[in-house]
This record gives sequence, C-alpha cells and structure tokens, in this order.
Amino acid sequence: MSNQLIRMSYASKATFKPFNAVDGVDANVANILSTARRENRKNNLVGALYYGNGCFFQCLEGQKSDIDALYAKLEKDPRHTDLKVLSIEPIQQVGFVSWEMKYAQIDQEVRAFLKNHQLGKFDPYRFSPEMTAELVAVLQKADEGLSDAELKHIDSVSNSKNASGVSMGIYIMSIVIAVVVTALVTLWMTGV
Ligand SMILES: Cc1cc2nc3c(=O)[nH]c(=O)nc-3n(C[C@H](O)[C@H](O)[C@H](O)COP(=O)(O)O)c2cc1C
Repeated sequence: MSNQLIRMSYASKATFKPFNAVDGVDANVANILSTARRENRKNNLVGALYYGNGCFFQCLEGQKSDIDALYAKLEKDPRHTDLKVLSIEPIQQVGFVSWEMKYAQIDQEVRAFLKNHQLGKFDPYRFSPEMTAELVAVLQKADEGLSDAELKHIDSVSNSKNASGVSMGIYIMSIVIAVVVTALVTLWMTGV
C-alpha cells in the first residue's frame, strides 16, 4: 500500500572529502541536512542521519510513496554512492516526532554500540537487521540533535570560510598577474 506509514534505513558512502568541519559538523553534511530538513518538512517526512567513517546511516519515516520518491532522488545524488537498504518495516507511528532530519552527534554511544558488536569502525554495510533496529533506537533516544539554529550558524560560517577561500585565491592570482605584467613591461622598456 503506497499510503502506508513505514520506516526505512539505508547505508551509503560519502563521495566527498571531509571539508571545513565547523563545530564538529562537516560543511557538506551541514548542507545536506539543511536541504533534508527543508524538503522533509514539505513532504511530511521525519528521520535521522548519522555520518561516521565516511559512511551515512539514514533512517526515514513517512508514507511509503513519499519515501519511495525521496529514495529515487537519493539514488541519483552524487554526494554519496553504494546505497544499501538495511531495513523497511511498517510502523504505527513515527519515532522521530518533530525531527525533519535529526542529526545526533552521538559518537560515544556509537562507539559503545560498535564495541558491543565487536566492530572496529562504523561500517553500516555490516549491520544485521537487529543492529539496524538498535542504532535506530539509539538515534531516537539521543536528545542532542543539532538544532535548526545551530545548523544555520554552521552553514553561514562554512559559507563565509568558502567565500574567504575564494577571495584569497583571487587575491593571490591578482598578485601573480601584477608581477608578470610588471616584468613584461620592464623587459619591453629596457628593450631586452
Ligand atoms: C546522505 C544524504 C541524505 C539526504 N537526505 C535527504 C532527506 O532526508 N530529504 C531530502 O529531501 N533530501 C535529502 N537529501 C538530498 C536529496 O538527495 C536531494 O538532493 C534533495 O531532495 C533535493 O532534490 P531535488 O532538487 O531533485 O528536489 C540527502 C542527500 C544525501 C547525500
């Protein structure tokens, strides 16, 4: 049934290199989260995202048709690859109430979870259905989700860092051009 309420979890690998972590949140991830929150609000979807060891673990809750539509977009998103669905189950009610996309910075909890399951690093591709359910429960319980205000701050700081990176590039390029032009003019004037 396309209007059934479901929970779907998947794993994927980030294709980007870690970039400009502000307050411990990678700029690329902050950007993904901003879009996810804005779009999920429109599409009545909720869930959580965890990023670790270059991998994503995302849990989505909502109407099956909405999740199918989003998954089709996710499959085409070049920021990650190797998507693997870990679980799909019907639910009676959502577990991520009021989280259009919760981003829990729960590295300690995840380390304990990995240790319990004798996993050396965060590798969601190796999760059994039971482990997937356990991590979803950990994410639901985590109370330190990154708020919209914090996300906005991270986004604006990383954007201004990028902007200053670009203007520094232009500045250096202008100096190089000025030096080359001066050298050429000097050579021309001295008739060499
Ligand atoms: C790891 C990851 C998680 C994402 N999660 C969501 C999400 O929860 N909701 C969403 O709308 N987009 C999410 N996106 C972004 C979508 O892939 C897509 O860029 C976005 O929905 C806008 O698509 P559109 O411009 O085709 O409408 C995510 C992307 C990545 C890489």
